[in-house]
Amino acid sequence: SRPHLTLGIETSCDETSFAVVAGGRRILANVILSQTGEHGRYGGVVPELASRRHVTNAVPLLQEALARSGITLAEVDLVAVTRGPGLVGALLVGVSLAKALAWALDKPLVGVHHLAGHIYANFLAGPGDEPAPEPRYPAVALVVSGGHTDLFHLQEGGGLAWLGGTRDDAAGEAFDKVARELGLGYPGGPVIDRLAERGDPQAFPFPRAMLDDDSLDFSFSGLKTAVLYELERRGWRDPQRRGELEARLPDLAASFQQAVVDVLVAKTLRAARQVGARQIYLAGGVAANRRLRRDLEAAAREAGLNLACPPPVLCTDNGAMIAAAGYAAWRRGRRDGLELDVDPDPPL
Ligand code: KG4
Ligand code: ZN
Repeated sequence: SRPHLTLGIETSCDETSFAVVAGGRRILANVILSQTGEHGRYGGVVPELASRRHVTNAVPLLQEALARSGITLAEVDLVAVTRGPGLVGALLVGVSLAKALAWALDKPLVGVHHLAGHIYANFLAGPGDEPAPEPRYPAVALVVSGGHTDLFHLQEGGGLAWLGGTRDDAAGEAFDKVARELGLGYPGGPVIDRLAERGDPQAFPFPRAMLDDDSLDFSFSGLKTAVLYELERRGWRDPQRRGELEARLPDLAASFQQAVVDVLVAKTLRAARQVGARQIYLAGGVAANRRLRRDLEAAAREAGLNLACPPPVLCTDNGAMIAAAGYAAWRRGRRDGLELDVDPDPPL
């Protein structure tokens, strides 16, 4: 019999993406259109612009995903769509289309938690022959992106429980805001990552917020303020002294990045101890950060834990991860009706 085919739809932020995934694990097509370049000139995502781009791009991208996977729309067995968290207007585009498709095709519909998608990106394989990685339980998953910094417990059977998250800025948001103050453009994460390679992570003693409390929560707004205060104190916000600032950019980037990474690593290891995890999964756009990968890898190894992380294309927003999480939820019995709504805080 032919494999079960899930259509995955992602429009929660500034990527429009459609994917076809076989058996919940094998990617047949994963078409992603990123609007980052368009939003960059505004210094961040403009919600209404994102919604309008989703509207114009959605159907052509769906057609492309079907063409690349070599299937017809009628062969889709399940429609999975991000229902939140995300920008409401952007989510509505994907959810409306998903409902129309499920109705017209008379196929089941599942609304997916965006962060569950990021975690399930770890269990996908490409169209080639290599097997998809088997999920290992119990595990802890750290999802770090421009919108989220959350720790989850991945339980036996694939269920998820939330353990903690940021009380203010997300880690990626901190990278983006600090980069903007340093005049480095948007998105800031990749630029800071690159600059930090040449800098001294101990040059500036930035704070590690909430490192010493028992919670699994994070806070990054104080760190951002500390960087701004340092620029102010040294007179580096004066355009006349841009040269002086530029000479110290690698040290600033490295010191800021290390402060973020130290807290992420410490809390992830603490979470792993708490739930008795034998596996750590890393996901979200900030998972691309090289210092984070290196330090988390080292800390995990020392604690006798395995660390896994999806390839870069599956770390950022995409439809395949939504298909994977949607398929798993469907297998556990989840079904959504055509009254499905977007939800800023949906069930996992
Ligand atoms: O997951 P993603 O593509 O979109 C959201 O759902 O937010 O993540 C984008 C975020 C941005 O904040 C970007 O600055 C950050 O991920 N990012 C990085 C790196 N690459 C992307 N942050 C740190 N280091 C990187 N190498
Ligand atoms: Zn995301």
